Amino acid sequence: MSKTTPPDAAGKPFLTDVKTLRARARQHLETGNVTSTYKGDVDQAIEILQSVLATEIVCVLRYTMHAVAASGISSEGVKDEFAQHAKEEQEHMMAVAERINQLGGTPNFNPEGLLTRSASQYAEGGNLVGMIRENLIAERIAVDHYRELIRYFGNDDPATRTMLEGILVTEEEHANDMHDLLVAHEGKPSLPPASR
Ligand SMILES: [Fe+2]
Ligand SMILES: [Fe+2]
Repeated sequence: MSKTTPPDAAGKPFLTDVKTLRARARQHLETGNVTSTYKGDVDQAIEILQSVLATEIVCVLRYTMHAVAASGISSEGVKDEFAQHAKEEQEHMMAVAERINQLGGTPNFNPEGLLTRSASQYAEGGNLVGMIRENLIAERIAVDHYRELIRYFGNDDPATRTMLEGILVTEEEHANDMHDLLVAHEGKPSLPPASR
């Protein structure tokens, strides 16, 4: 039976006493960091994160290919931007894979079925402007996806939510970078600005 302090005048939620916290932590050690206070559905969380992982892997692959294959007189700065994004997408990939592992799952890096698990697509884009445009589309998908997932995890799994919030900040920057590059190379945005 857990002992808690009564809510204070400000209506702050109950706090569990240290003794109960310590006793609870000793139970079910095999579940690692997923303790009895985890409010979410762990299997569902892992399944969602496998799809997020696939999305990030596809983003790593697409930006890496673009960083190598972009060509033309004005491609140098753009290549650097693509390479920087590839690196950041790889950091996202690792963070999501680590979180799946922490929740007791095995991160799915299997190339088979990767594109069906991923929210974003692997589009080659053709020329430089086509590449920028495909990346902008992929980033907008990622931004929408992450916003939705942050709402989904809410207070049931604050650690996963916080991780996704951190990733969302970078994805919004990525979308902004691609939008600016598109304006620089086309003179006008060919997509409506991302909803902020
Ligand atoms: Fe990402
Ligand atoms: Fe991104």
